[in-house]
Amino acid sequence: MHPHLTVVDHPLVQHKLGLMRDKDTSTAVFRQLLREVSQLLAYEITRELPMTTKPIQTPLQRMDAPHLAGKKLALVSILRAGNGLLDGILELIPHARVGFVGLYRDEQTLKPVQYYVKVPTDLGGRMVIAVDPMLATGNSSVAAVDLLKQAGAKNIRFLCLLAAPEGVARMRDAHPDTPIVTAAIDSHLDGNGYIVPGLGDAGDRMFGTK
Ligand code: URA
Repeated sequence: MHPHLTVVDHPLVQHKLGLMRDKDTSTAVFRQLLREVSQLLAYEITRELPMTTKPIQTPLQRMDAPHLAGKKLALVSILRAGNGLLDGILELIPHARVGFVGLYRDEQTLKPVQYYVKVPTDLGGRMVIAVDPMLATGNSSVAAVDLLKQAGAKNIRFLCLLAAPEGVARMRDAHPDTPIVTAAIDSHLDGNGYIVPGLGDAGDRMFGTK
């Protein structure tokens, strides 16, 4: 399906995702669950962060303690729903650099158009994690990864909560070098581009806009 696809089937992730799918889950609870799941997914997607050691003194003796190496990673939120994942991951990785990519769909061409882009400098030396809860058609995800590559990023990963097979295939065709971490791959997209069974519009669910 995709050469670097990880579905995090951990019971805690799956339990929380089930609660999020329920249409009767409130906005406040949805947002809290998204924060929790984002941290569990971030744990998986950062597995290959480079490590070094740092000499420290414990209360008992000196030791070389494991320490993250290299430049701080960059998180890039695909607006607006990406912000729901961003908040939780930043709690876990508070020193990460943060970027934002805003895209809307041109109703004539149906292609994604940028309306806001602000990403950290020197992306080339960092692990870059693009976050968007829903990998649906894949159009905005592919456009966001295109843009990050144009900005110099070389080590990009994509983190989402739910993916449709169509979106995964689109990412595989456009960016087979970009690993994807998700909590589930659902059945299909409906005629409006919603993931089925899914959880509805992630932005509306987390911000209470509907
Ligand atoms: N975006 C959403 O928020 N939900 C979907 O099901 C698809 C795209």
